[in-house]
Amino acid sequence: MRDIQNIVILTGAGVSAESGVATFRGPGGLWEGHRVEDVCTPKALERQPELVHRFYDERRAKLSTVRPNAAHEALARLDAEWTGGLLLVTQNVDDLHERAGSTRMLHMHGELKSALCAACGMRRPWDAALPPICPTCQAPTLRPDIVFFGEMPYQMDAIEAALANADLFVSIGTSGAVYPAAGFVRTARHYGAQTLELNLDPSEGSIWFDDSRMGPAGTLVPAWVEEVLRG
Ligand code: APR
Repeated sequence: MRDIQNIVILTGAGVSAESGVATFRGPGGLWEGHRVEDVCTPKALERQPELVHRFYDERRAKLSTVRPNAAHEALARLDAEWTGGLLLVTQNVDDLHERAGSTRMLHMHGELKSALCAACGMRRPWDAALPPICPTCQAPTLRPDIVFFGEMPYQMDAIEAALANADLFVSIGTSGAVYPAAGFVRTARHYGAQTLELNLDPSEGSIWFDDSRMGPAGTLVPAWVEEVLRG
């Protein structure tokens, strides 16, 4: 890709769909089986903590039964071979990008395999079901390290700095339904980046992309990475 130095990639649930991880919206999506306000808001955690913990404990346990797919692997190849700037911002809370080998990345919506204490702010890797007692401060305030609706996503400063420097912004497998992630394409365009969308169906933000390619991530992403690395 001529004069492309710095790339920012945003991924959503669609990049993990071919690994068997449920997306949120669309047929069989997680939000079909659960109301967002019942499992993904601070109020829900207060009102019915056991339902919220069960929702995330089940998704955390499922991680050991799924594997990275060709899209995760292609993005890890780009991470290893791309000599310019690269930041992979994922909305996903699974660990499939890391397991494929991506390193220049961050989870803006938190991670299933991390626990957060609402009292002392402790965050640490966590594999099993979450007990309510924080091992650091002993308060009964341990929660999934997931950014709930109404809470501020992680590392927004780093994301905004990367978007301001991006020559290319690529959105993969996201419906463009949730902000601030859904607005990143407009920020990237504002700073003069080229924009590309790789998605199974047109997203709510397709109109903002210079180029929109429809199809499964497992096919489109390896082809796109090959194109970028071949220059
Ligand atoms: N390949 C590429 N794209 C796919 C595939 C696939 N195999 N399967 C599904 N998609 C696309 C769908 O067309 C859809 O546009 O992935 C997108 C999934 O959209 P959502 O389920 O809304 O997931 P996402 O965009 O990641 O949701 C954003 O919403 O609920 C919150 O915090 C949650 O991070 C999540 C955020």
